[in-house]
Amino acid sequence: MSTIEIEGLHKSFGALEVLRGIDLAVEPGEVVCVIGPSGSGKSTLLRCVNLLEQPTAGTIRVAGVEVTDPDCDIDAVRRGIGMVFQQFNLFGHLTVRENVTIAQRRVLKRGRAEADRITAENLRRVGLAEKAAAYPAQLSGGQQQRAAIARSLAMSPRLMLFDEPTSALDPELVGEVLAVMRALAGEGMTMLVVTHEMAFAREVANRVVFMDAGVIVEQGPPAEVFGRPREERTREFLHRVLEPTRVRPAD
Ligand SMILES: Nc1ncnc2c1ncn2[C@@H]1O[C@H](COP(=O)(O)OP(=O)(O)OP(=O)(O)O)[C@@H](O)[C@H]1O
Ligand SMILES: [Mg+2]
Repeated sequence: MSTIEIEGLHKSFGALEVLRGIDLAVEPGEVVCVIGPSGSGKSTLLRCVNLLEQPTAGTIRVAGVEVTDPDCDIDAVRRGIGMVFQQFNLFGHLTVRENVTIAQRRVLKRGRAEADRITAENLRRVGLAEKAAAYPAQLSGGQQQRAAIARSLAMSPRLMLFDEPTSALDPELVGEVLAVMRALAGEGMTMLVVTHEMAFAREVANRVVFMDAGVIVEQGPPAEVFGRPREERTREFLHRVLEPTRVRPAD
């Protein structure tokens, strides 16, 4: 059974059709990276998986449960899905430890001792054990994002969704977050990752999906999509993003 199975997914915002027929499956243990230009519908696709956006048409199954069925217990499905955004959304008035523990206690109803143990385990996993007592404002952006990842992992998800988790970070902090994600992939976590980090996608993804204007233009192993893209639109996009940034003369 696929971890995610999307068939004929359409999503419109008013007259704007943002997803125009997406078919995509993600298998257990697979790391799928979604790339594509701004506005192509990548975030909308991700948000449809846990119904943060309501699809206009199509079906989505998560571990065999059809989330697009009106009778689906979406809260139960969401408990199995970790989501990490560009913005970390940590509670500023809680310590890192409390941020990672709170949903385990309230949503999963774990006892204090078990939740504390799982929190410690996951803070260690993301290299933040020594920051457990710190408040988010006392952390760097990279540390905050790692705390947000620990918080998701502490919920024991079967699936992690990442939406550009490093794009709000200063360049020197990107690597530490990608390293955590790489380790997670190595442990066999099923991951659907929207990213602008082409080197990461190339190295870590089992499959790369290129989206443009609400459709999947092509997908395949990274070596194929990056090395010999079949579609002109893919070539043009890769050319644009992989081209070394030119230094512009000061005004
Ligand atoms: N809640 C909304 N209401 C109206 N339009 C929306 C909404 N969310 C997204 N859109 C529009 O849908 C299109 C796709 O947006 P989406 O955020 O999915 O793109 P994206 O591929 O994630 O882009 P980026 O790389 O910039 O994050 C855009 O034109 C956006 O303006
Ligand atoms: Mg986006």
